[in-house]
Amino acid sequence: MSNPAKVAVFVSGGGSNLQSLINASKSGNLAARIVLVISNRDDAYGLERARREGIDTFVYNVKKYPDRAAAHKDLMEVIEHYDIEYIALAGYLKLIPKPLIRKYADKITNVHPALLPKYGGKGMYGHRVHEAVLKAGDTESGATIHIVDEIYDNGKILMQKKVPVNSDDTPDTLAARVLKVEHEIYPIALNNLITGKYQ
Ligand code: GRF
Repeated sequence: MSNPAKVAVFVSGGGSNLQSLINASKSGNLAARIVLVISNRDDAYGLERARREGIDTFVYNVKKYPDRAAAHKDLMEVIEHYDIEYIALAGYLKLIPKPLIRKYADKITNVHPALLPKYGGKGMYGHRVHEAVLKAGDTESGATIHIVDEIYDNGKILMQKKVPVNSDDTPDTLAARVLKVEHEIYPIALNNLITGKYQ
């Protein structure tokens, strides 16, 4: 792969989306090299996945800084140090500082476990999303990859893939079906972005 883009991935949990991005990068299906994995939690299993792949990690916990400005400054310096070109949020549950969103305009992506603009916005993450889909009686759900801007789950949609909602679904069974397509479409959408297919 000729000079793959340098990508930082932000995780808060298990990191299965991170793993699918890593796998796609290793198999040549993603024109990127994941050079840094950042988490707000030092116990995120996604950090363990990174360590196993020899990828540097950085725990970014705003509470550990004297103030928000100091935290943002440190994060920006780390991102600069790794010469990051794209940022992929993968199950990251915190806000991205506005200076970072501005610096990486149209180069930060996120995966959301529903068909945005439905079931998005502040507080709509994880199980709450699937509970809301089931409560509404929808017959389909799916995953969305979108650009991150300064409003939650609001940026340009890059790719979506639908899944059926079964009458006997629980939030768990629906989440598992949606997660599978997340893993499928995130590497494709990020590769399209990096290779300029959305220009
Ligand atoms: C996924 O359900 C994703 O939709 C949401 O957070 C979860 C992340 O899972 N953004 P993982 O950490 O990638 O396994």
